[in-house]
Amino acid sequence: MDVEDYLKSKAAETESALKSCLKQSGDVPQNLLQAIHYCLFGGGKRFRPALALGASEIVSGTTQTAVPLACALEMIHTYSLVHDDLPAMDDDDLRRGKPTAHKQFDEATAILIGDALQCMAFEVLAETENIRVIRDVAKATGVSGMVGGQFLDLEGENRELSLEQLQQIHRSKTGALIAVSCRGGAILGNGTEDQIEALTRYGEHVGLAFQITDDILDVVGVEEELGKPVGSDEEQHKSTYPALLGIDKSRDLAQHAVDDAMDSLTSFGEEAKHFRSLASYIVERNR
Ligand code: IPE
Ligand code: IPE
Ligand code: MG
Ligand code: MG
Ligand code: MG
Repeated sequence: MDVEDYLKSKAAETESALKSCLKQSGDVPQNLLQAIHYCLFGGGKRFRPALALGASEIVSGTTQTAVPLACALEMIHTYSLVHDDLPAMDDDDLRRGKPTAHKQFDEATAILIGDALQCMAFEVLAETENIRVIRDVAKATGVSGMVGGQFLDLEGENRELSLEQLQQIHRSKTGALIAVSCRGGAILGNGTEDQIEALTRYGEHVGLAFQITDDILDVVGVEEELGKPVGSDEEQHKSTYPALLGIDKSRDLAQHAVDDAMDSLTSFGEEAKHFRSLASYIVERNR
């Protein structure tokens, strides 16, 4: 199985579980549920779910116990995208090849889609009954993770940051959720502490490579392939790797992070082969 097929199989597993989550929502405002459905389905690489399911598989041979985590991560990630696109944040009109939530509906609906997805995520995650994972996901989502990073990202507009500051933003706004995908999967798969730590390190490095590549694609990508606007970062005067260092140096640093990710996997054998391919894929992708 090549890396794209691996991602597709994990995406399929996640999407059927996500569909059940939405079905179970009972008596709720149907227009809100449809709006959530619009954002959650019909696009998205499902990269974080693939890491959660994959990490569990590496340590235990099965993805089963990590399915609620996979769903929760995709819900949190989707919420972060809906809010990220709002006029008060990145002000973008296209996401996953479709109009962004505030364009398709309105701003209030987009805010509430995000709020609802975040709560739904923790409701699903609670099914694991694993307090350690619930706490780690909360931490990776909040002020010390994604939300904190998004705040620093906005503060960094129109400013020249040091490479250290920029790396910190990328590690928190994107790396934290990617790292906890691997970590949570390893915990739910009942991995040893050494395995959990190794997969967490892998996720941290891969998370940094992922956001550097996202910055690069914002400059050199193709809108039809990316499903989101190209040139948005420059328009918003964002602090990004390409803005600070240029494309070539940014590519070097992304590759460096991939090399570090590979090093984190040295204690694993064949069982981690898909994670090795995924790490390389992250910097080679065009979407
Ligand atoms: C985009 O994430 C935003 C970042 C955190 C870099 P993805 O590239 O994973 O977006 P989807 O889920 O595939 O749309
Ligand atoms: C977003 O980074 C990170 C999030 C936590 C959503 P970007 O703002 O660069 O993501 P895109 O390019 O809009 O997907
Ligand atoms: Mg942003
Ligand atoms: Mg954005
Ligand atoms: Mg971007």
